[in-house]
Amino acid sequence: MTDLSTTIAGVRFPSCFMNAAGALCVTREELVALGQSGSGAIVTKSMTVEPRQGNPEPRYYGFPGGSINSMGLPNLGYKAYAELIPDLKRFGKPVIASVAGLCEDDFPIIAAVINAAQPDLIEVNLSCPNIPGKPQIGYDPETSERVIKRVRSLITVPMGLKLPPYFDPAHHEVMGKVIGRHGVDFLNMINSVGNGLVVDPEREAVVIKPKGGFGGLGGRIIKPVALANVRAFYKLFQGKIPIIGTGGVVDGMDAFEHVLCGASAVQIGTVLVEEGLGSFDRLNNELTAVLARKGYRSLAECLGTVREL
Ligand code: SIN
Repeated sequence: MTDLSTTIAGVRFPSCFMNAAGALCVTREELVALGQSGSGAIVTKSMTVEPRQGNPEPRYYGFPGGSINSMGLPNLGYKAYAELIPDLKRFGKPVIASVAGLCEDDFPIIAAVINAAQPDLIEVNLSCPNIPGKPQIGYDPETSERVIKRVRSLITVPMGLKLPPYFDPAHHEVMGKVIGRHGVDFLNMINSVGNGLVVDPEREAVVIKPKGGFGGLGGRIIKPVALANVRAFYKLFQGKIPIIGTGGVVDGMDAFEHVLCGASAVQIGTVLVEEGLGSFDRLNNELTAVLARKGYRSLAECLGTVREL
């Protein structure tokens, strides 16, 4: 029997596949549907202090190689998610609360209340590229360190960071040092590749409305960037901080590549939005088949084992 279960920071997930924060996880109905699906966890939309409608539409556009979005953190506000979390735990899979903030002071306000609601894990989102005028915190090591420090003392469940893609080893190292100083329990990478631009040449126009068409890229086209970040942080921490690999997972083989690079679990965004909740069963079946064909009985047997030439 091939086993797709995984453990992150001592929490067991029945399957390594789960939704990425943002994909079909804003409302109570969507979160319950994730609970009833083949997803290995329920990840909430990144929450802010106040409820938000998000950016003007159109704000998501799918194309054959992936997607671009500038949602602008539409969510119910942290108090609503704090009320929902205890009920979401009935599905027998971990609940991950994703915490964002529009300024540094928002993070501890949300973290304290959400921690009291006892999700199984909390993910601190340092990497939303879509709030006009607010640069991604994860690209500023000093601000990142201040935020991590302020929430770390408030969070008693396993605490992770959702990181943006980094494009240079110097940036992996700087952030690695920050992360290493504060007892981070897990990492999730990558958020969308921020501030891409997709143009429709027929209409001679950009495809989404916010920020003049600039938005975060997801889906198949970002897989090499995601794999590189998973690999870089897996090596930096010698596999001691578990990693959730996010970015470019469309089929079971993509997930296998993430695991080889060092991901203990995998999140899906674009494919979930495009294909719906049935994508979890397909991915579970496809990864099971890949592992069985290669003679692996569990993810642990091939975690981080990609060969360098
Ligand atoms: C969004 O709501 O704009 C996306 C959130 C994120 O990328 O963290």
